[in-house]
Amino acid sequence: MADTTSILHVSPVIPVVTIDDPQHAVPVARALADGGVRIIELTLRTESALTSLKLIADEVPDISVGAGTILTPGQADAAVAAGAGFLVSPGVTPGLLAHMLALGIPVLPGVATVGEVMMVLEHGLNAMKFFPAGPAGGPKYLAAIGAPIPQVQFCPTGGVSLDSAPDYLALPNVSCVGGSWLTPKAAMENNDWEQITKLAREAAGLGRN
Ligand code: 3PG
Repeated sequence: MADTTSILHVSPVIPVVTIDDPQHAVPVARALADGGVRIIELTLRTESALTSLKLIADEVPDISVGAGTILTPGQADAAVAAGAGFLVSPGVTPGLLAHMLALGIPVLPGVATVGEVMMVLEHGLNAMKFFPAGPAGGPKYLAAIGAPIPQVQFCPTGGVSLDSAPDYLALPNVSCVGGSWLTPKAAMENNDWEQITKLAREAAGLGRN
């Protein structure tokens, strides 16, 4: 099985990026990398997402690009074909998890309950996305899960910000957080890559436990 833990250690923040216009794909990736963030979770929420993913995979080799919002085995296959280096799902089912794990690249499945954490552990994986982190209970909830299940490392995502990230990153069972705040829609539409680099630099400077 591919090592998912390595994905969690690239940056204190994994930017969750949604790209409408594939022309933005390479500049966004370069802007993030210039700010010191060398990883992207590119969501499959737009029609052209796979085109953007392929552009980044082909043209920005110093950034690790994965596909997010994987809901079906077919999306996982398409993402791998487009060059995804890892796969992220917002939630998890046994069938989707088994399919993703068989593809041989790191997989970060989303969990929000103790039962889901245990199900993913049964598949041999101890790195997970905690989603939606804020509404599901925030840092206190993760700290509580860490008592009976200290062997799992989480990437909390969903409602996390530059201000709230430190409370998560201070926990022993959190390796990084995820969030969409590094790539505001307005900055992308205005080709304001400098702002994205600035937001990336702030995020890359966050301390971890
Ligand atoms: C995700 O898919 O991980 C979330 O949409 C990101 O959540 P955020 O927009 O609250 O950061």
